[in-house]
Amino acid sequence: MGPPDAILGVTEAFKKDTNPNKINLGVGAYRDDNGKPYVLPCVKKAESQLASKNLDKEYSPISGTTELCKLSIQLALGNDSEVIQNSLNATVQTISGTGALRVGAAFLKAFYPFSKTVYIPTPSWGNHTPIFKHSGMEVKSYRFYDSNTCGFDFKGACEDIQNLPEKSIILLHACAHNPTGVDPNSEQWAELSNLIKRKNLFPFFDMAYQGFASGYIDKDAYAVRLFLKEGHEIALAQSYAKNMGLYGERVGAFSVTTSNKEESERVLSQIKILIRAMYSNPPINGARIVSEILSDQKLRADWLVEVKGMADRIISVRTQLRDNLKKEGSVRNWQHITDQIGMFCYTGMNADQVGKLMKDYSVYLTKDGRISMAGVTSKNVEYLAHAIHQVTK
Ligand code: LMR
Repeated sequence: MGPPDAILGVTEAFKKDTNPNKINLGVGAYRDDNGKPYVLPCVKKAESQLASKNLDKEYSPISGTTELCKLSIQLALGNDSEVIQNSLNATVQTISGTGALRVGAAFLKAFYPFSKTVYIPTPSWGNHTPIFKHSGMEVKSYRFYDSNTCGFDFKGACEDIQNLPEKSIILLHACAHNPTGVDPNSEQWAELSNLIKRKNLFPFFDMAYQGFASGYIDKDAYAVRLFLKEGHEIALAQSYAKNMGLYGERVGAFSVTTSNKEESERVLSQIKILIRAMYSNPPINGARIVSEILSDQKLRADWLVEVKGMADRIISVRTQLRDNLKKEGSVRNWQHITDQIGMFCYTGMNADQVGKLMKDYSVYLTKDGRISMAGVTSKNVEYLAHAIHQVTK
């Protein structure tokens, strides 16, 4: 018998609980202020526009629709990107961010000649290690999070990166680091870029939260665009699960940037061969929704407002949680709740405290003390603060 998944298993346990006050802060899935799943209005509009087009259900090309690929790389790199203008990217549609990472891992395993080891931050998303191992890569780590400050361990990260073997692969969270909610600032990104260049490392960006961290698409793509401006060639995984709320549609993209157009074509041809053996071609529905939103000026404008609305609600419940912990009388320093960014807060609670939260208060979260801020609402925040205070006082 295999163990339940560290993240998705939490939802399974939550569903079995009969306590009416139960809260699921496990999986990172956005909820509205009533704790309900949120289908973005722009998605509903896109769906009705698509319904009126009477589209067929033919197979997608192996690399997904050309439109989705083009719109995705534009979203990541910006409209004035030289990479795009010079066709220096190979982009494929993938089965959300996980699929992008898995296709990327398969590609690097087969075609990156210098290393079969990927270095991921400590901690990182719980699925990074399984994804890379599943494709036959070795996974090692570099320091990222400082548990004393609940912030970025810049010094530790630089020391470790400095000591990596030349030309290794390094995984970077583009924004809204999962699980910690801790991101390097712009000066730190610039230094990381220099260091990574000096060491000839190959950066693989996981960008699952573009727009979801700050509420602004361009701001959240800062690191990716900086690295390209600085002359890196990169791999990039994108997801529309969070920023368009298209979790179950499984739509994302994987890109590799190259030094010339002909190389992009060769890279694309090899990625297609890998995809054909893995799942043949990607699903069409989510890709159509995303393409409709990104290509229709009105829908795109609506989306930018809606994604910012989600980001802002999360920022507001961070303050509410901190205020309520204070009201409960907690004397711990909870500043990191509001300092951290994106969907998650890495609370600093230990496994015992997490166990008590689940057992005594029906508050569900991952064992590492990560809470999905997206599940916190103005209605459950008092109860949550009370429960957290009871187990941490
Ligand atoms: C999470 O970290 O909760 C999300 O990225 C969902 C997942 O697949 O783990």
